[in-house]
Amino acid sequence: MIPKEKIEEVKERASIVQVISEYVPLTKRGINHVGLCPFHSEKTPSFTVSETKKIFYCFGCNATGNAITFVMKKDGIAFPEAVRSIARRYGISVPEERGGAADTREPLYQALKLAVEYFSRELKESDGRSGKEYLIKRGFDGEIASRFHIGYSPDRWDGLVVFLRKRGVTMEAAEKAGLVVKKKDGTSYYDRFRGRLIFPITDSKGRVTGFGGRALDDTTLPKYLNSPESPVFKKGETLYGFYQARQSISKEGSAIVVEGYFDLLAMHKHGFTNSVATMGTALTPEQIRVLKGYASTVYALFDSDQAGKNAAIRSLNLFLNEEVTCRAVLLAQGKDPDEFLASSGPEAMREAVTRAEPLMEFFLKELKKKFDLTTPEGKRKYLDEATPYLTKVRNIAEKGHYAGVAARVLGLPPESVFSALKMPAGDRAGTSVRTGETRKVLEAGASLAELTVLKVILKFPSLLDEKVEEALEAFKDPDLKKIGAAAASFLKEGRTLDAESLIEGLGDEGLRGLAAGILFKEDDGFMESPGKMLEDSLKRVLNRGKLKETTREMIQRLEDMGISDVASDIRKRTAKTSSEK
Ligand code: UTP
Ligand code: MN
Repeated sequence: MIPKEKIEEVKERASIVQVISEYVPLTKRGINHVGLCPFHSEKTPSFTVSETKKIFYCFGCNATGNAITFVMKKDGIAFPEAVRSIARRYGISVPEERGGAADTREPLYQALKLAVEYFSRELKESDGRSGKEYLIKRGFDGEIASRFHIGYSPDRWDGLVVFLRKRGVTMEAAEKAGLVVKKKDGTSYYDRFRGRLIFPITDSKGRVTGFGGRALDDTTLPKYLNSPESPVFKKGETLYGFYQARQSISKEGSAIVVEGYFDLLAMHKHGFTNSVATMGTALTPEQIRVLKGYASTVYALFDSDQAGKNAAIRSLNLFLNEEVTCRAVLLAQGKDPDEFLASSGPEAMREAVTRAEPLMEFFLKELKKKFDLTTPEGKRKYLDEATPYLTKVRNIAEKGHYAGVAARVLGLPPESVFSALKMPAGDRAGTSVRTGETRKVLEAGASLAELTVLKVILKFPSLLDEKVEEALEAFKDPDLKKIGAAAASFLKEGRTLDAESLIEGLGDEGLRGLAAGILFKEDDGFMESPGKMLEDSLKRVLNRGKLKETTREMIQRLEDMGISDVASDIRKRTAKTSSEK
């Protein structure tokens, strides 16, 4: 258990804007900071961070929480680990856990960091000759090698094992980090990387999470050996070189994606410093999300052969889902970027990148090769296949543009493609379910008076008194009532109501989102006279019950008097107004 005072200190000292900025680029807007939500797909920022409230809230998906819960969610770690991680950043010492390890990932980072030291020492000194020779042969010695901390693992079974042991790293940690492998005997270990040129792989904060190792000759298999997946290394969420490229990506507003380690080095060497590499596998949604906070356009380099074209088209859906524009760069025959740059030079590369057309346009042009567009069936099939992609384009201007491209390909008037696109209704399906829910609660389901009472006291906690408390207890909307009760408990305990603790205290995620929504919603203008507003709403909430009782008595009396038609008329009316609230 971390002492309570330590948790308080971390909460107190941590700047939520600073903490979140390490994961999501934020810009200041008014008193808040905004950015693209890391928890759902979006193109315009609705993710809002308040330094003073110490919480974040996404208007798109309702995600909310404080700095600690943000780190928990993003890093997929437990509460104490998140507290420690933030504490470290602010130099707050948190006593280590007795018995169990607290942050299970920390020893792994430590081992990986030491491994980089070992590999680069080996490249420079001892047995580094062969590694160095290979690097020189490929043309990447010098500045690029040091920028990417290229190293070498000598052809030994225990070089790293001995090095790490000497520095107090446990073999359990080294094994978990993928650096060493346990022998069949179950007690001893050997180096995973042997006789390979080493590429350290970092996360977006620059922490080393894994390695790629290139065999020094083309007969050794596999050609590249990568770290296995580990608690810190997730290949599908990582882009090689992103840490070195991120400032340049942000400045250019675009990123160039290549496949290989050496391709990445070659791109950087020739000045394309906004390049990153996927390490061989097809681009994943997580990797696109890493980029999209910094770049609105991604240039993806593909082979110009059929396999490359197919790969390009396969990735189209991903980019559409993430609302990132992809431009496909097709390099001349069978050359990867490294070879292309070596043979044709950076100018040719620059030209290929500049010429790159949007992937959607490329797709629409490629698709026509599949059908005989001189026949009506051919045209129909073409449109059937293109429509699901076109409908996914959210921006009206872009959608219109691509519909025009499709129309030109088909030799039809653009209107006919436009009308085809209106048919499927699934356009925005599933993107804003949770927003819809909140809005329902906020605007329709909940009593306006109840909502107003809550809004006022959440923004002006000093107005919370016994009368308000009474009203909170009389709330009819179950969700608003729970939030009201949580707020009232602050008063009872003699604490001042603050946004962060309120959100934290609400157990249910839906409730948290609702409360954060109220806290962040634009003031509807009435906030100039909150006292009066509160008073009016209190009356409406508190008298509602009494009014009903009087009405019921009146109906009863009318019925007793035998005037049942009037009684039933009143009953109908009140039923109607109370359902409208
Ligand atoms: P390539 O086979 O295209 O190799 O793999 P390359 O990058 O051109 O390598 P060099 O130039 O011959 O040295 C592309 C990428 O796929 C991953 C690596 O990230 C590689 O850079 N890969 C490839 C592996 O992870 N393992 C392999 O065995 C091969
Ligand atoms: Mn290559």
